[in-house]
Amino acid sequence: MPLPYVLLSAAVSLDGYLDDTGPERLLLSGPADFDRVDEVRASVDAVLIGAGTIRADNPRLLVYSAERRAARVASGRPEYPLKVTVSGSGELDPAAPFWHTGGAKALLTTDEGARRARALGIAADIVPLGDRIDWRAALEHLHDALGVERLMVEGGGTVHTQLLQQGLADELQLVLAPLLVGDPRAPRMFGPGAYQGGRLRLVETRRIEDVVLTRYLPTAPGTGRTVTAADRHWLALACELAELCPPSRTAFSVGAVVVASDGTELARGHSREGDDPVAHAEEAALAKTDPADPRLTGATVYSSLEPCARRASRPAPCARLILDAGVRRVVTAWREPDTFVADADGSGVLAAAGATVLVLPEYEERATAPNRHLTG
Ligand SMILES: NC(=O)c1ccc[n+]([C@@H]2O[C@H](COP(=O)([O-])OP(=O)(O)OC[C@H]3O[C@@H](n4cnc5c(N)ncnc54)[C@H](OP(=O)(O)O)[C@@H]3O)[C@@H](O)[C@H]2O)c1
Repeated sequence: MPLPYVLLSAAVSLDGYLDDTGPERLLLSGPADFDRVDEVRASVDAVLIGAGTIRADNPRLLVYSAERRAARVASGRPEYPLKVTVSGSGELDPAAPFWHTGGAKALLTTDEGARRARALGIAADIVPLGDRIDWRAALEHLHDALGVERLMVEGGGTVHTQLLQQGLADELQLVLAPLLVGDPRAPRMFGPGAYQGGRLRLVETRRIEDVVLTRYLPTAPGTGRTVTAADRHWLALACELAELCPPSRTAFSVGAVVVASDGTELARGHSREGDDPVAHAEEAALAKTDPADPRLTGATVYSSLEPCARRASRPAPCARLILDAGVRRVVTAWREPDTFVADADGSGVLAAAGATVLVLPEYEERATAPNRHLTG
């Protein structure tokens, strides 16, 4: 199921705290960064905070720039992004400014929390999600029922921690402020627990007055049939690689990436790469890996088109090469049409050998784009 693009945004002290323990909210960034946050808010469909942040900070969570609000309206969007909060208990102050400023509001809660929130008179679309809040279900609801394509999450630590640990965060926008809190009772951006093993990808650093904005993308593939935000990023990269292929009238243009379970890219490739006019993308990528690399057994292959099951140009089709490399997880955007091979079923070959194959149809259009001359 498609989910919103989830952007986690926060400012932290040099020692990693989101706030101190005083009664007032600790101001970590300055006017220029608050204006940047305002710009990001204006760009998204919804902003979300946890109930803890409403209780601690009493925020209004608005787009403050009149020009940005006008631009939203001019482009056919609501003046303000939807304001969303998450609360298991439903124990919220109905008089908080969060409910009485800006545009539409939604409260994602449990069945019990919904009863309490209704009894309290919370002025929002109250969405009961069962006995407990499952984040994937919550995000699906935002996407499917409320039309949220881009979601900015503005804390607090409990919410950020769960979204990152569950592989649901597409991007982190972290502002590092030059001050120290030093109080272990203060909230941290990320609490203890299981995170992805390897390194996130740094995509931007920007000085803004005396703070530094850093943007990171998670990199670790999901496990089994669970799709993470990183799975979508890698598949998008495979689709980009497909655009690099020398055009052909007799073969598809495909991109592929091999990624270890900790998010390390092991290799990438695309069709007809280098001087090889019949090279397939997965073949080209796997040829760059060391067959003895133990990371291959836990790796995921991302391929814009499902790996081939039969081919005329070489004895081993890509499904076989993937299995022989020890890879047991494949994410693809597009099932192979009958253009060159009837009933090609690389996914079936892989699955029959015990591999997990995931098809993310929301990327099919990008995968087919460099092949329009073949598929019409
Ligand atoms: N520096 C920054 O950029 C920044 C940004 C935002 C917040 N903050 C700070 O962060 C602190 C608040 O963080 P926090 O971790 O205490 O609170 P939080 O993450 O804002 O909210 C936690 C609350 O959200 C609800 N919740 C979250 N996940 C849930 C789940 N899976 N199921 C059910 N309910 C769930 C629960 O509400 P119920 O208790 O109602 O069940 C939980 O108590 C404040 O000090 C604030 O100032 C700083």
